[in-house]
Amino acid sequence: MIRRLAAFALLTGLAACGKPIPPAPTPEQALTLRPAESRVAGLYAESCMACHALPASGAPLVQDRKAWDPRWKQGEAILLDHTIQGYRAMPAGGQCATCAPDDFKAIIRFMAGREDSAI
Ligand code: HEC
Repeated sequence: MIRRLAAFALLTGLAACGKPIPPAPTPEQALTLRPAESRVAGLYAESCMACHALPASGAPLVQDRKAWDPRWKQGEAILLDHTIQGYRAMPAGGQCATCAPDDFKAIIRFMAGREDSAI
């Protein structure tokens, strides 16, 4: 019975998003991850990375889907608003004075592990 329940949970868990959630990066891997587009990668490295690649900062770790999926569900408008206005310990603008809204959107998609999908 327990085996059947576990199999059911596994199947429905997989079915919910089509494929299994990739594991979170290790702290060492997190430091090496960059967005694909080089200009956006530069903006990310100069600002967001200071917190989002350091587990101890309290920021959701780059490409840690377990940390990002509940936030991702809020939708792009809210994530963008929280980035621009600031949100709890997240500073307004994420310390990127030169980021345009489209830059923020690209970085959010990258950090949330959704670079290949629209919100
Ligand atoms: C000084 C540290 C710091 C920097 C720099 C920073 N963040 Fe954050 N960010 C945080 C913290 C901490 C949180 C978690 C806030 C919470 O939920 O308590 C967060 C959360 C977020 C969230 C999720 C908000 C939500 O609604 O759940 C987004 C999106 C985000 N950051 C984007 C960015 C982007 C884009 C940049 C760079 C332009 C950036 N952050 C730079 C600390 C930082």
